[in-house]
Amino acid sequence: MKFIIYISILLLSSTEIQSQSLVPLYAKSGMVMSTRSSASEIGDAILKKGGNAVDAAIATGFALAVVYPQAGNIGGGGFMLIRLPHGEVSMLDYREQAPLTASPAMYLDSLGQVIPNSSLIGYLACGVPGTVAGFYEAHRRFGRLPWSDLLQPAVDLAQNGIIIDRRMASSLARKFDRLQQFPGSREIFTRAGKPLAENDTLFQKDLASTLRIIQTAGAPGFYSGLTAEKIITAMAKNGGLITARDLKQYKAIWRKPISIDYRGYTIYSAAPPSSGGVVLAEIFNALENINVRQSGHNSSELIHFWVEIERQVYTDRARFLGDPDFINMPVDSLISKSTGKKIFNSINPDYARPAAATIPRIIESDQTTHFSVVDAGGMAVSNTFTLNDSYGSGVVIAGTGILLNDEMDDFALKSGVSDASGLTGGAANAIAPGKRMLSSMSPTIVTRSDSIILILGSPGGATIITTVAQVISNVLDHQMNIRQAVCAPRFHHQWLPDSLAVEVNGFSSDVLQKLTQKGHSIKVVSVLGDVQAIMWDRHYQEWSGWSDPRKDGL
Ligand code: DON
Repeated sequence: MKFIIYISILLLSSTEIQSQSLVPLYAKSGMVMSTRSSASEIGDAILKKGGNAVDAAIATGFALAVVYPQAGNIGGGGFMLIRLPHGEVSMLDYREQAPLTASPAMYLDSLGQVIPNSSLIGYLACGVPGTVAGFYEAHRRFGRLPWSDLLQPAVDLAQNGIIIDRRMASSLARKFDRLQQFPGSREIFTRAGKPLAENDTLFQKDLASTLRIIQTAGAPGFYSGLTAEKIITAMAKNGGLITARDLKQYKAIWRKPISIDYRGYTIYSAAPPSSGGVVLAEIFNALENINVRQSGHNSSELIHFWVEIERQVYTDRARFLGDPDFINMPVDSLISKSTGKKIFNSINPDYARPAAATIPRIIESDQTTHFSVVDAGGMAVSNTFTLNDSYGSGVVIAGTGILLNDEMDDFALKSGVSDASGLTGGAANAIAPGKRMLSSMSPTIVTRSDSIILILGSPGGATIITTVAQVISNVLDHQMNIRQAVCAPRFHHQWLPDSLAVEVNGFSSDVLQKLTQKGHSIKVVSVLGDVQAIMWDRHYQEWSGWSDPRKDGL
């Protein structure tokens, strides 16, 4: 009996690890890391064809819109960091924006309460999408191969169909109630009143047609003409706000990324309207005051410091950050070394500082997606994009295959009321026409003496920033290789709710007990994040990459 049990465990674990070996992936010239191997391979083929990192990123992004509709998209938005061969880092903001007729109280009832799900499900939840404008603009400025070549693999996948794997089947089952409400989504993602299941084929022929239009016409193929007409008509019929004017005026915007020095490295990440860069900068400026290496990776002493820092920086996020085109923010002051020092000085090494109030919300963790690319010429792309929830608002605009986001939920719908990530906010992130909602997406590039060290990012809503921060610290402070850095157990605190999320089985009872004694309220969660990272391995003088085993990339 014992023998039989032993064999079956062995078989099970060998299936689990089949998709990745235990050493990082190494490559001399270039690399693509995404959450789906089929999308990474498409980016890789573009590099081999002579494309640069931006070309490969765009092809990977369009492919993810087909093979990973949970988060890959053309109906959502995101942020792209591009590092040019001579070292300059640019940031492209293609975040969704509120429709021009949106208003601050649009999700509140007559008593001023948030109407459940109104900013999460259906036509009213959708922000004006930015992905196609973003990819088109990145290509206009930096692309090398013809635009049309970058879309062809995605067109083929959508047209010929893909086999649904276990991960997609499980997410379709979870979001079935949402998807089956909308005819366009029902048609694609369900069959005979049930969600598509593992090993079924997902055909997206309308999406293939839309991608072909974009392939020929560029971004205008999405924001005007037939595609736009279908979006506008569906919106008008179903209580959505997006009009022709919204689509016509949408622009991806070049911004200066946030950059800070950390122990001789330069960390670049997304500037507002993402909070990612500012919050990362605050974390690292405070952390610089601690001998992180000596404190010991994931020791109770070090976790305590991290958590107390996170508590403070997420308070700043809620209070100050929003769309820079609408509000003034003290960004320079927040990301200064003196603020980092003040945060550090305010920490009591023995006790957790209580948050004013607690708001119990679930931490969600798998509905955005990141990919990292580097090419032989020293160009790198770090890109995170999203529909917000898995499958966004659940709405596919009939006849287009376009799944639309529910990004409006990232605004502070009502001061102090938390969003799907449990994040709170106030006036800085209130809804206004044409405004971009505050994000946590943190596509990041780390350099040293003008050489790339690390390219990374993650999904995870509010937990994105702390996930990215821990992987950076694992590499820079704890000198882990990329596999160790990505695999290491993670924790997260975001001020409110006042609980310290720790990954299950990742921390010893001893460490957790010490943290509890210091006053932390521990909440065990299954996973935090899905990091896609590329690192320059100085021993081997090669790129090394690792796709988070928490999900199943390559
Ligand atoms: O922009 C943001 O911060 C969120 N819309 C991201 C949502 C997310 O990562 C969901 N979960 N993985």
